[in-house]
Amino acid sequence: SGPDSFSPTGQPVDVPPAARAQGGAYLTTAQGTRLPDSDHSLKAGPRGPVLLQDHHLREKIMHFDHERIPERVVHARGAAAHGVFRAYGNASTVTRAAFLAEVVETPVFVRFSTVLGSRGSADTVRDTRGFATKFYTGEGVFDLVGNNIPVFFIQDAIKFPDVIHAAKPHPDREIPQAQSAHDTFWDFVSLHTEATHHTIWNMSDRGIPRSYRTMEGFGIHTFRLVDAEGATSLVKFHWKPKAGVHSLLWEEAQLINGTDPDFHRRDLADAIEAGAYPQWELGIQVFPDTPEQTFEGIDLLDPTKIVPEELAPVQPVGLLTLNANPANYFAETEQVAFHPGHLVPGIDVTDDPLLAGRLFSYLDTQLTRLGGPNFGQIPINRTHAPVNDMLRDGLHQTAVHSGVAPYKPNSLDGGCPFFAGAAEGGYVETPVQVPAASKVREAPASFADHFSQPRRFWLSLTPIEREHVIAAYTFELGKVYEQPIKERTLRALAEIDPYLCAQVAQGLGLPAPAPAGPLPPVEPSPALSQLGQTWPAT
Ligand code: HEM
Repeated sequence: SGPDSFSPTGQPVDVPPAARAQGGAYLTTAQGTRLPDSDHSLKAGPRGPVLLQDHHLREKIMHFDHERIPERVVHARGAAAHGVFRAYGNASTVTRAAFLAEVVETPVFVRFSTVLGSRGSADTVRDTRGFATKFYTGEGVFDLVGNNIPVFFIQDAIKFPDVIHAAKPHPDREIPQAQSAHDTFWDFVSLHTEATHHTIWNMSDRGIPRSYRTMEGFGIHTFRLVDAEGATSLVKFHWKPKAGVHSLLWEEAQLINGTDPDFHRRDLADAIEAGAYPQWELGIQVFPDTPEQTFEGIDLLDPTKIVPEELAPVQPVGLLTLNANPANYFAETEQVAFHPGHLVPGIDVTDDPLLAGRLFSYLDTQLTRLGGPNFGQIPINRTHAPVNDMLRDGLHQTAVHSGVAPYKPNSLDGGCPFFAGAAEGGYVETPVQVPAASKVREAPASFADHFSQPRRFWLSLTPIEREHVIAAYTFELGKVYEQPIKERTLRALAEIDPYLCAQVAQGLGLPAPAPAGPLPPVEPSPALSQLGQTWPAT
């Protein structure tokens, strides 16, 4: 089966009629038995007791009782769309992944999300946004599971439960639903100063995007690309919106939250329905794959660091167009299952310790969220490449497997299905050297620099953007109850910039601390405040 076997909404068109969700002119039970009435329970007389034998009542209520599945543990609120990715073909110099290396079109499904709010929360809160893309390539599914901010709060996935516990609503009252306005969040990010960079991006205009259509997306981690000859490069992925990067003002965001909590999902769906298809270019920053895995002194395995675009320009490799709204929110947007470990030949992972934990977490959480190990068979998750695996049975198995021998080696099946080496399109891991070392629970020394890049970000902002950052820190910290948390955060701000620290301290009515030592001489990035608007015309 190929892409043609899927409708634009991702529904396989070759499902047997019996498995189609709706069809036929008559209302029926789930078993297809036609019904004369669905408004009245079966009773012993019009005023008599309801009879247990009412099979239609029992089936209807039973199914309704189980309509909800657990919401995502993070990124619960989202909106999604179908589209197509057209590669320019120029990435063949760095990757053998056909959907990037050849001038081809690949169907995609993209889900945007907030991180912290529950499924019913408001859209325009100050938060990071998810930007997850599923490419249904001919070589298997590739998922680029990114965010709209190019760095992350933590450097090691083992802290992910901690940062999320600190940032999610308090366990007693489940308040607040917004990201930052509470003590536990600010307690965490001031104690774990590696979070400073992500936090200042959140406090900037990037934390309140105008629209999903006007957000950048970032793969964040450094990935390893492999070309047709086996040569490798390190890369970072970027999505650049054709419409430019636009944000709301804080006052606008608050008003919209009250008047239209669905603002972002409505905006996305309306734009697509009106034919104003949102577009992004996919770009890559390419770095040599050296044993140190650094570029211009920046540790490429540290997900709290960017590589400034003036040091490594983002090179466009393809165009994403979102052109169809989902037909059904639950079937598609809710049941889609992204996973950073969904890779295709030509794209490999690196040893970023944040990425390593993600490679475990997504499949694991989906086992619970989607009820068992067969969620890959849900239409929105199905690959468009032929599948011949040895996975069998399990909850919600819908495939009817033929044959008797799902094991290998196997003397009964004539060798089929065959193994594929790299020449046959097999996914062969890059034979990267693993350094000889002792087992330790510690971070590399290069991960200890927590302030030079936040400082670079701050210095790269325009005056009005800086005023917004000051106002955001002042507002959010103004909601913090514990004085020591405010003071600790001010000490982190002092390491970024004395003016920033002094202004926020003044707003809070507290003294401004001095930095612990001289601030590092940092060159501001001229492009940083303009990201997304300096994209070269193609
Ligand atoms: C969900 C991005 C780090 C665990 C998501 C989603 C995005 C995302 C975009 C929503 C996917 C969707 O729309 O369905 C990121 C980025 C990260 C990061 C960019 C850092 C660079 C982590 C880490 C963990 C984690 C470190 C755990 C160790 C999860 C889980 C979900 C999720 C459990 C829910 C998935 C589901 O229920 O299907 N993440 N994440 N994430 N993320 Fe992450």
